[in-house]
Amino acid sequence: MKITKAVIPAAGLGTRVLPATKALPKEIFPIVDKPAIQYIVEEAAASGITDILIVTNRGKELIENHFDREPELEQRLLQNNKIGMLNEVVNISKLANIYFIRQKETLGLGHAVSCARSFVGNEPFAVLYGDDVIIGEDPACAQLIRAYEEYGRAVLGINKVSYEDISKYSSLKVENIKENVFYCSDMIEKPGKDEIMSLYSILGRCVLTPDIFDILKTIKPGSGGEIQLTDAMKVLANTTGMTAVEFTGVRYDMGNKLGIMKACTEVALSHPEIGPDFKKYLKKLVCEI
Ligand code: UTP
Repeated sequence: MKITKAVIPAAGLGTRVLPATKALPKEIFPIVDKPAIQYIVEEAAASGITDILIVTNRGKELIENHFDREPELEQRLLQNNKIGMLNEVVNISKLANIYFIRQKETLGLGHAVSCARSFVGNEPFAVLYGDDVIIGEDPACAQLIRAYEEYGRAVLGINKVSYEDISKYSSLKVENIKENVFYCSDMIEKPGKDEIMSLYSILGRCVLTPDIFDILKTIKPGSGGEIQLTDAMKVLANTTGMTAVEFTGVRYDMGNKLGIMKACTEVALSHPEIGPDFKKYLKKLVCEI
């Protein structure tokens, strides 16, 4: 079955980037001139996704506004003959059919995904974490969808993380199938040092089958007292097995301060308008520090 639906969980509290996230969702933080979540919606659309459910929370109305039309602004851009920018602004609302649902309590990523059940129905679907921006030639979501089409199992987007950092992520038991594709039979969220299965971790993308919803119903709060998506995916890995794809592209974690600064710096360096000037500025700054 062709994958046309995606879920973007964006209802987290963003406590690692307080106080910025007190009123402003981290998903709307700009990377130079584009909000993080627009990169994610563009990646989904470029991967063949036509329908996207964004899971939000109180105070996240800005996300809805960003994907809506803005007639007064459009009129002004038209009057000022800024046609390029006008088209860019209008096109944001045409990227996909975007739906919203509120996660009424912030009970964890697994719980956020379970809010998508009636939207998803009985189809496989992609999940793109709302604070993980991945920039690359070949959209990461499309890489996972191709693996789903080839192997017919749920798929994880993975990459290696350092030994020092793995306990902040998940750790997977994997066997290489070919090139960057693996078979995953087990996983653990936030492993202790003696529980590490490999340095491969799930980073921001997966393709799930609808049986995940019945599994999620049985999951008790895990690490951090939250209903963890990893704990439900572990059940899938232990039973049907999962495919894992070491995706290409650069991932920026917009949920932590260093990740935000890396995203802004690297995107600014290759930005057509400010790239050359920013490079000069950065070189000068580097000489001074
Ligand atoms: P994170 O754990 O990175 O986000 O979840 P968080 O909970 O906002 O982070 P901190 O620890 O408080 O800083 C990954 C994604 O899942 C969403 C988040 O919005 C983020 O995009 N999420 C997380 C939900 O939608 N609901 C939740 O209950 C938890």
